[in-house]
Amino acid sequence: MECEASLKNSAAILILLTIFSHVNSWYFKCENGFCIRNADPNDKSNYPTLELCSLVCSSFHNVWPQPTGKMASLKNIVRINPNKIEIKLNGPPGTDHFIADNILHFSKKLKKEEPYNCTEKVYPLKIILTPKSNNPHLDLNTNESYTLEIIYEDDTITASINAYSIFGIRHGLETLFQLIIPYEDGNQKCIATLSYVYISDKPVYKHRGLLLDTGRNFLSVDTIKRHLDGMAASKLNVLHWHITDSQSFPLEVGRLPNMTKYGAYSEKHIYSESAIKDLLQYANRRGVRILPEIDAPSHAGNGWQWGEEAGLGNLAVCINRQPWRSFCIQPPCGQLNPTNQNLYSVLKDLYSHMRDHFPDTGMFHMGGDEVFIPCWNSTQEIIDYLRGKPLTTETFLDLWGEFQRKALAAYDRAFEHEDTSIVVWTSHITQPEVIRKYLSNERYIIQTWVPESNINLITELLKLEYRVIISTKDKWYLDHGFWGSTLYYNWKTVYENKMYKYNHEGILGGEVCMWGELVDDNNIDSRVWPRAAAAAERLWSNPRSTAEFAQYRFFAQRKRLVDLGIHAEALTPKWCVDSQGECKTYL
Ligand SMILES: *[C@@H]1O[C@H](CO)[C@@H](O)[C@H](O)[C@H]1NC(C)=O
Ligand SMILES: *[C@@H]1O[C@H](CO)[C@@H](O)[C@H](O)[C@H]1NC(C)=O
Ligand SMILES: *[C@@H]1O[C@H](CO)[C@@H](O)[C@H](O)[C@H]1NC(C)=O
Ligand SMILES: *[C@@H]1O[C@H](CO)[C@@H](O)[C@H](O)[C@H]1NC(C)=O
Repeated sequence: MECEASLKNSAAILILLTIFSHVNSWYFKCENGFCIRNADPNDKSNYPTLELCSLVCSSFHNVWPQPTGKMASLKNIVRINPNKIEIKLNGPPGTDHFIADNILHFSKKLKKEEPYNCTEKVYPLKIILTPKSNNPHLDLNTNESYTLEIIYEDDTITASINAYSIFGIRHGLETLFQLIIPYEDGNQKCIATLSYVYISDKPVYKHRGLLLDTGRNFLSVDTIKRHLDGMAASKLNVLHWHITDSQSFPLEVGRLPNMTKYGAYSEKHIYSESAIKDLLQYANRRGVRILPEIDAPSHAGNGWQWGEEAGLGNLAVCINRQPWRSFCIQPPCGQLNPTNQNLYSVLKDLYSHMRDHFPDTGMFHMGGDEVFIPCWNSTQEIIDYLRGKPLTTETFLDLWGEFQRKALAAYDRAFEHEDTSIVVWTSHITQPEVIRKYLSNERYIIQTWVPESNINLITELLKLEYRVIISTKDKWYLDHGFWGSTLYYNWKTVYENKMYKYNHEGILGGEVCMWGELVDDNNIDSRVWPRAAAAAERLWSNPRSTAEFAQYRFFAQRKRLVDLGIHAEALTPKWCVDSQGECKTYL
């Protein structure tokens, strides 16, 4: 009885839904930069979908991040024949694989919508890519600029991308594919673009990063790749990979098998050498360089327990020591033992591994944050080493400085050159009053994680001629809002971390940081995305306009991320996404 009734009900719902799907077919027309819903199907200015209307109507034709150079366009739509897309590579030899891989990546977007059966007139699309250089190496000084021109002429659509590097070409392709819109209009499926576009574009900042942390919780290679896709779609170019922490050491190091033997959560939670190779190539093809971080001397514990038995003495101290509050900031405790000279030859082996398995991008991150003095100060071996010196903060900072000097020397010996830029977090030893004593401004880049109100520190470091990467903790720490008294920063707050306040050539750029305590494969996407894309526009374009102005373009970018398979969080009810201008001051 009950069964029958509910069956009837669902039939009724089905009918209702079918009716609704007809009733609810809106059209869109362009008014003052908004795509307004229009119920009148006979209005000549209608566009059949929001995406198509936005392509014509929206600021920067919906491109995210907004281009920084000259932009010109015509607002006429032309339709593309999907069976006649031709790609011509016009550059020096050796770039085919890079380009082919990217074309394959982009063409997935179009294939999804097959079969096309457009009844409007369609035209062939010819894409001409002209890089000047075939250098496959990505570093801080890679020229990422590009120009894109789309011309419809003689019954052909030609898209030409010119750039110095293949990475500039890749950015141009990213922009081009944002300007190619598959859509459905009643019975037909088409792909459209604009009949004329010219864009000249390059980033404001060289270093546009996302930090992922695989020390607290392991992230699968697939998850990292998904983030690389999102980064590429948003033109972020640095994956700052905080690989290890006191909780775990998941990086396989051939020369030091004990690191993962003692430090990995399990055999499944290891990045093998082949996984690393795969990831590095994947990142390179997406225009992203990986900046590895092996945090030291603090945030190091598990993975370092084997020294004593191997006859090398204690490589680290306070490992997993309790009560943890007395010996570290976060459990489990652990800090490298700066007084053990064998530590530096182990570090040299570790750095030699980095040399052999990661490309030399001229940059390496040594962490260097949150040394907890009571750990060292409660270790007899360390107190003995300090022989008679007063156990003051300054003595311990000097010891930390000594560690940093010796770790750098080990790094330089491994690399056989002395010009790698070493990045460290702001800490006690980067205070403007003492930093010169410990860290040279020629070798060190300082990553600042102070709150926005502490602009003075950044100004001081710049005055002392340090290069700086900005990770404003009360705007760009994506882990906040889920622990302690921290707040969640919505995409608008992330967007409005106005870099122009610190207008200075010593600022290389910035990073949003996804610390890993409360994320793993199951929930990380929605913590990072689409907020990282908001930071991406801040770093690429650094616009003076507000998040409010960018919001519909940002909604479109969020949809692109979702289409890539990223579980990016919703930003507002879909009704507000579809009804531009109707939800002002709401979310
Ligand atoms: C980057 O490449 C473009 C195009 O070749 C060129 O015009 C520009 O001057 C280059 N920029 C730098 C900083 O070298
Ligand atoms: C186009 O394809 C869609 C399904 O993909 C179908 O519903 C529609 O009837 C087709 N239209 C024409 C004109 O063939
Ligand atoms: C690994 O650690 C063990 C102690 O558990 C030690 O005996 C061995 O020598 C270490 N292996 C290497 C290659 O250092
Ligand atoms: C180190 O510990 C001693 C006591 O054992 C204490 O007097 C000293 O203040 C401590 N130093 C620091 C910098 O905390």
